[in-house]
Amino acid sequence: MVSRVHWGHIFHVAGRPTVEDAADALISVPDGALVVDDDGRIRYCGERAELPAPARGDIVVDHRPGYLLPGFVDTHVHFPQTFAGDAYGGGQLLEWLTRCVYPAEARFADPGFAREAAVEFCRRRVAVGTTAAMVFGSAFRQAQDALFGETHRRGLRMVSGRGVQTTGEPAAAPLFTPEAEVVRSVRAEIDAWHAADTGEVDTALLHVAIVPRFALSVTPETLRRLGELYDQVRDRGVYFHTHLNENNRPGTGEVDTTKRVYGVRSYLDTYDGRFLPGSEIGGSTLLGRRSILAHAVHCQDAELARMAETGTSIAHCPVSQQFLGSGTMPWRRTVASGVTVAAGTDYGGGDEWAIPRVLASAFKVHISEPGEDGVSLHPAQLLFTGTLAGARALDMERRFGNFDLGKEADFVVVDPSGSPALAATLADGTRSEDPLLARDQTLFALLMGLDERAVAGVYVQGRRVDDH
Ligand code: GUN
Ligand code: ZN
Repeated sequence: MVSRVHWGHIFHVAGRPTVEDAADALISVPDGALVVDDDGRIRYCGERAELPAPARGDIVVDHRPGYLLPGFVDTHVHFPQTFAGDAYGGGQLLEWLTRCVYPAEARFADPGFAREAAVEFCRRRVAVGTTAAMVFGSAFRQAQDALFGETHRRGLRMVSGRGVQTTGEPAAAPLFTPEAEVVRSVRAEIDAWHAADTGEVDTALLHVAIVPRFALSVTPETLRRLGELYDQVRDRGVYFHTHLNENNRPGTGEVDTTKRVYGVRSYLDTYDGRFLPGSEIGGSTLLGRRSILAHAVHCQDAELARMAETGTSIAHCPVSQQFLGSGTMPWRRTVASGVTVAAGTDYGGGDEWAIPRVLASAFKVHISEPGEDGVSLHPAQLLFTGTLAGARALDMERRFGNFDLGKEADFVVVDPSGSPALAATLADGTRSEDPLLARDQTLFALLMGLDERAVAGVYVQGRRVDDH
């Protein structure tokens, strides 16, 4: 068996810790080796000096003085907003959707345009080292076919599903699916693309999600139909993805409008089968281990508890929350509920493609939370949130997310020389005499300063992914 031996400074969060325990699980091997078998699995991760001599035919790839990190996981990013980043003139969420986003997404009805976008979307992902992603899809089937096709061609991991909208304002009308066609169209995407690459959900790189845009863009009838469909396909490992509790402008924002339109006690109830007035049960729940809800900035305690109970995860998108003025997800309270919190760019609501930029933003917004709520996140917690937590949110932690032996080798090679300011900080930054603190300082500087210029190589299942 031919193996590939990658040399570099390894950082990863080993095992299956919670975010609270991530610092204890941080592994740093400055002169490290990562050995990947030709089946794409990790055979060795540790000191280069302790590695048995390479077998004949083994291929050594020397990335020194570069770093090897687990591939970044983006748990919330919008394909049909590939060209909609930094859109001006929208204001906060609901107006931004009307003025900037719906018109941009309507252009994906043009198959040629959608194909170009799929190529650009995948190029952007690779450039920033995002090896796995939950991708909020386009309303248009051909656009989704282009996205899955291009993702497959490049060998990337992806969960995605067409964005379903059945009601809303006139600006959203080009994105509507007729009520009677919702189930047929979502089922068709599942049948076409779910585990389409290998035929088995546990080995596939491609998976499909059921994706209503948010409660306000669908009817109770749509939620009932999607719940019924989810009951039928849950066992096949299909996902659920949508937005929750993002904008709480009093009276007219997303949270208040949702509660008023549905007459429910909590926003989460609409996705939990309780979408009838008074939060009466009207259908099946869409929550579960393969459900990821984006934002969850303004949750009631009961909503967090219900997410934790059902294994539903949060895609935390602080860059977007700043861009759209959505507020700050309370870190301590959210994490204390036991719900898994992973990182999402929410591009184009966020204006950064790179998960490390999201982690840098998370550090800044959470240290700025008022009073006792403020928290200085440990660099291992940041790394965890952008890698292992993402794999956990995708219910694929046993497959990737860190360099535990036997896992599939998804990793990013960072060459700081591509990014002069990062290189200078790493080379000449003052470090503690305490080796553990010095280690943490190096990882912190690396994550805070990492931009796409320093991403020198991206590997999924041990195979290098092209960036063009
Ligand atoms: N809520 C409903 N649609 C969207 C969207 O496209 N982006 C964000 N950030 N929130 C949403
Ligand atoms: Zn979003």
